[in-house]
Amino acid sequence: MTVAASSASRAAEILSQPVTLNGLTVPNRIVMAPMTRMFSPGGVPGEDVESYYARRAAAGVGLIVTEGTYVGHESAGQSDRVPRFHGEEQLAGWAKVAESVHAAGGAIVPQLWHIGMVRKQGEPPYADAPAVGPSGLRVDGTEGGGKAMTQSDLDDVIGAFAEAAAAAERVGFDGVELHGAHGYLVDQFLWAGTNRRTDAYGGDAVARTRFAAEIVAAVREQVSPDFPVIFRFSQWKQGAYDAKLAETPEELEAILAPLAAAGVDAFHASTRRYWLPEFEGSDLNLAGWTKKLTGRPTITVGSVGLDGEFLRAFAGEGAPVQGIDNLLDRMERDEFDLVAVGRALLQDPEWAAKVLGDRLGELEPFSAAAVRTLS
Ligand SMILES: Cc1cc2nc3c(=O)[nH]c(=O)nc-3n(C[C@H](O)[C@H](O)[C@H](O)COP(=O)(O)O)c2cc1C
Repeated sequence: MTVAASSASRAAEILSQPVTLNGLTVPNRIVMAPMTRMFSPGGVPGEDVESYYARRAAAGVGLIVTEGTYVGHESAGQSDRVPRFHGEEQLAGWAKVAESVHAAGGAIVPQLWHIGMVRKQGEPPYADAPAVGPSGLRVDGTEGGGKAMTQSDLDDVIGAFAEAAAAAERVGFDGVELHGAHGYLVDQFLWAGTNRRTDAYGGDAVARTRFAAEIVAAVREQVSPDFPVIFRFSQWKQGAYDAKLAETPEELEAILAPLAAAGVDAFHASTRRYWLPEFEGSDLNLAGWTKKLTGRPTITVGSVGLDGEFLRAFAGEGAPVQGIDNLLDRMERDEFDLVAVGRALLQDPEWAAKVLGDRLGELEPFSAAAVRTLS
């Protein structure tokens, strides 16, 4: 890629290149990050959810990753306003979302989610089921009434992910993203802090990855060979921002290699600030290391398009925030392939059009109120 004169035209040039994830060609490098919105009563995404996603696709987002949507297992979630990815009415709602996004020129994948031991007080239809996890432990190490999963629980959840992936292909989505990040069920297996099992699903990094790899393999079996399977993971957990799955690149490779072998087509490395180096001795971020270790296309994320003032107010931090140039430099070096944008796209549905159209000066500054509406 050639370096253009201004930041704006450079952004347009670099981010407007298409990229292929297995059988899917994404028209540009901009991804909408998955964001739970809780605007789907009864777990059914309605017309407002449909137009919320379609609006971003029409304004140039290349790939939308939907908010986390529960797989069909009694303990998968806790809120009746989070969309479900099972049930006739729910899937009919999702089919309309996919159709509208396609009509607007975008691609879309659902993020399949099981919250595991994060589950607390559930609303119907999740009222009675126990929270489940690898060892019945919450991210903070407490038990809180949870249940360590039996083999039949594991089989049920693996089956629920596979069924949801098959449904995604059937109702017209372009792939799936498996939520293996942020301290939810799949991550609870990956992380030694919550996985104390002594059977084949616990122990070293490879054993802790077994559950995730079995989900990937089961999903792969249920969908067409060219249907993209994306895996999202993170070092950090909700409630434990300093937690780490991997202290070294070797440990990271031990986790990612079995997932790639099981059929992951692309990784989504979730960080809160994309410009921070992941391990000492290299400038690569988590996505950069992931691409280097697996050779798979990789999505980066974390505070893209947010201004420093907001971040300082929100996170109580004084750290300087990087503008888009650092991101473009890394993309030019092929450290990663796509960039996911979360909060900036809530604030400004036109974010992608402005960035791709050399209109950086028109971007709206983020305000926390954007998280409360579905505009
Ligand atoms: C309101 C909100 C809801 C979120 N829900 C999810 C989710 O359902 N699944 C997920 O993997 N990440 C979720 N995230 C994290 C985002 O995908 C993203 O990684 C994070 O916001 C950092 O990107 P940003 O700085 O561009 O916002 C959520 C973030 C926000 C702000």
